[in-house]
Amino acid sequence: MAEGAPSLQVRVGDLVLRNPVMSASGCFGYGTEYADLVDLNELGAVVVKATTLHPREGNRPPRIAETTAGMLNAIGLQNEGVHHFIEKKLPALGEFDCPVIVNIAAKDPNEYQEIARILDDAEGVSAIEINVSCPNVSGGLDCGVDPKLTAHVVESVCKATRLPAICKLTPNVTDVRVIARAAEEAGATAVSLINTVLALAIDVETRRPKISNVMGGLSGPAIKPIAVRMVYQVAQTVKIPVLGIGGICTAEDAVEFLLAGATAVQVGTAGFVQHTAMLDIIDGIREYLVRHEVADVNELIGGMIQ
Ligand SMILES: Cc1cc2nc3c(=O)[nH]c(=O)nc-3n(C[C@H](O)[C@H](O)[C@H](O)COP(=O)(O)O)c2cc1C
Repeated sequence: MAEGAPSLQVRVGDLVLRNPVMSASGCFGYGTEYADLVDLNELGAVVVKATTLHPREGNRPPRIAETTAGMLNAIGLQNEGVHHFIEKKLPALGEFDCPVIVNIAAKDPNEYQEIARILDDAEGVSAIEINVSCPNVSGGLDCGVDPKLTAHVVESVCKATRLPAICKLTPNVTDVRVIARAAEEAGATAVSLINTVLALAIDVETRRPKISNVMGGLSGPAIKPIAVRMVYQVAQTVKIPVLGIGGICTAEDAVEFLLAGATAVQVGTAGFVQHTAMLDIIDGIREYLVRHEVADVNELIGGMIQ
């Protein structure tokens, strides 16, 4: 190995990340809420919670429930809308030397396009992550299960902005490769996966669903092997970078995703258990590289030996 510390830098299109670890949307607020606990300057990027065109109240509580090795959520995209985000949240993020990736959700391709256009004019946005896959809201958000609709959304966003567009894929499909290919052909800079797995938990004493929306999205360690499998399949299918998400709690988990073909990873649910999880994962990846005498983290990408 070359002398000195290993390189952790990765690229997602033109976006250069100091390391491959970023927050997962919806699990790290707008980043700044955690700034006393987590030095945002250490992160590869901050992916903020989903922003819609207009404010949304979200679903009524209970909206989260713990499950075996995971959690179920149906927040329902609660947020104050894209204009509020730009005026009230984005400036504070600008204080940090950390790329900001804005997760967007909308009811149809036109609305996605409008949000993208608004974000394109804003100072301090590094990329857009297109949430085509939220299973929690009925009407308009199911386009991630349809390759044509997914392509339409990605195309619409790409027409409105020159920012890198990352298409976030749902696992709730028969063959995720078909959707990934559609996103790539429509101009996505990268794909990220997986969003939560559609699931249900019932309280047997009350016989009621544990969350008010009845069904919700499962996240956390319970979904990790599904996510690693899907990242592997997608990385075999597309040429654009793949961002791995799903149950990552440790550096070993992150390395597993890189070996499956991910260029970078996002950490969600683990942060609810340990706020500093992302920092521990970054340190752990560095230690792994030293221990395995790997000079550059990029050498791990797709490095699974069969
Ligand atoms: C409470 C909660 C809120 C979430 N909100 C969003 C969101 O706004 N947009 C989005 O694309 N994904 C959202 N997700 C999905 C996560 O970004 C991630 O894809 C998923 O939780 C799997 O990763 P994890 O197992 O590390 O949590 C949310 C997940 C949770 C648990």
